[in-house]
Amino acid sequence: MSIKIPFLSKQPKETDSLSGENVPNHVAIIMDGNGRWAQKRGLPRFAGHKEGVSTVNKIVKAAVKSNVKVLTLYTFSTENWKRPKQEVEYILKLPKEFLHVYLPSLMENNVRIQTIGDFQALPSHTQEAVSYAIEKTKNNDGLILNFAINYGSRHEILKAVKQIATELKEERMDIDSLDEEIFSKHLYTNSVSDPDLLIRTGGECRLSNFMLWQLAYTEFWFTEKLWPEFTEETFYEALLAYQQRKRRYGGI
Ligand code: IPE
Ligand code: IPE
Ligand code: MG
Repeated sequence: MSIKIPFLSKQPKETDSLSGENVPNHVAIIMDGNGRWAQKRGLPRFAGHKEGVSTVNKIVKAAVKSNVKVLTLYTFSTENWKRPKQEVEYILKLPKEFLHVYLPSLMENNVRIQTIGDFQALPSHTQEAVSYAIEKTKNNDGLILNFAINYGSRHEILKAVKQIATELKEERMDIDSLDEEIFSKHLYTNSVSDPDLLIRTGGECRLSNFMLWQLAYTEFWFTEKLWPEFTEETFYEALLAYQQRKRRYGGI
């Protein structure tokens, strides 16, 4: 596989094509900048969230095309409840709208839907729409599309610590057996590998409580582009940057 990246083709170089080798297995994205995108156009913030949904569709397709195995999208954080009620309600309706429009094409593309985060605290209409899609796509063995909804990494780590403490107290676990692998099994992300590449759009260079444990050795890539203006080309640009990195994991 080799994908030409059009915007780079002004100065064609061997490395301007994405290689089929060394594609990140797991890409995670902090999709930020919807509100600013709308405000720049004199539109209400929700218009940016709506536009962001079509970007999700484009990037899922690009991930399938480039042979990424897991795509995790940060859609709503445990801190996003601080926003005005109307905005929260609007954002939490989007999974249902996205799935209503795009589930058939996700099925065609063999995509499997999963989630991470505190699912039970979501409105029932969000839970129902997402649970339906999880069930419907459970036998698909292509891209795993992992939505982080009502996700907060500190909450996730505390939940894991509490579970482990209970297992120790009830003598279902021996403290000497507790290692990184067993700890990871208690996180929401227990069925997927750690992200290889983290992308954050919208110009902020912070994690905003996203995957603090899992990103220990992930490659980071930040862009000023706001999420609604993020394109397939920008996604390939990030993959290309990843392919040019040298991961050392503390070695030499
Ligand atoms: C990201 O865009 C979407 C969510 C956090 C739900 P924002 O809504 O944070 O947009 P900005 O950062 O205010 O522009
Ligand atoms: C992070 O974006 C959360 C999501 C993209 C879902 P925020 O917009 O909430 O992050 P901060 O508040 O700028 O750190
Ligand atoms: Mg933001």
